[in-house]
Amino acid sequence: MAFELKTTVPWGRTLSEYKSMFSLTEAELKKRIISFGDGPASFNSEMTEDNKSVTSVDPVYQFTAKELEQRIAEVKDMVIEQTRNNQDNFVWKQIKSVEELEQVRLNAMQAFIKDFSKGKAAGRYVFHALPDKTAFEDLSFDLAISSHFLILYAQLGLDFHITSITEMLRLANEVRIFPILDLDAKKTELLEQLITHFNSNFKVSIEKVDYEFQKGGNEMLRIKRD
Ligand SMILES: C[S@@+](CC[C@H](N)C(=O)[O-])C[C@H]1O[C@@H](n2cnc3c(N)ncnc32)[C@H](O)[C@@H]1O
Repeated sequence: MAFELKTTVPWGRTLSEYKSMFSLTEAELKKRIISFGDGPASFNSEMTEDNKSVTSVDPVYQFTAKELEQRIAEVKDMVIEQTRNNQDNFVWKQIKSVEELEQVRLNAMQAFIKDFSKGKAAGRYVFHALPDKTAFEDLSFDLAISSHFLILYAQLGLDFHITSITEMLRLANEVRIFPILDLDAKKTELLEQLITHFNSNFKVSIEKVDYEFQKGGNEMLRIKRD
């Protein structure tokens, strides 16, 4: 099925949020990182500015910076309104208000838009949709991450997740996924099934992280080659 711009809701987080979500140390930030479902996050642009290496993968990268910028402008009020109406579902500690959230997200997405065309030409933003296999060689990266995509969209199903994570483990020795809750902030059966599946060949752990915005969403899944 075609991935249409009019059905996407671009929304992006910052490097500082990625560091906390994935407990990324300074040494790990210097590694080769591939980030799936990276969307309009400023992770790649901020890391690149800091001379670090990130490859971002997302189907929205088929569109132009202008198209994405327009789509962000179209959906932002709706996303902010939804958040305002559901404020009790979130922890207002690191980000203190809906107004601050709007500013943080818009700043992140503006940084992404500014960097996108240059980064796409440099191969840092790759148009690709999981669960399909990517064109990268085995172990081209040290770490493969997914923020607010895998597990959060539990409705994509077990097969989609197993194939996607298997591809991520082909590319990197370690996979980290945050959050491990679904869109209703619940731990799903999918999480248990994934742990059971990958436990037989990999070291799987759930770890507390120093980030919580979705209430109770302060854990990441780590899957590592033994
Ligand atoms: C909620 S956004 C998260 C963006 C970013 N990772 C962050 O945390 O700020 C989810 C992203 O997953 C992307 N996505 C949807 N389907 C995908 C697929 N099949 N493969 C890879 N990414 C996908 C969307 O385009 C979107 O950018």
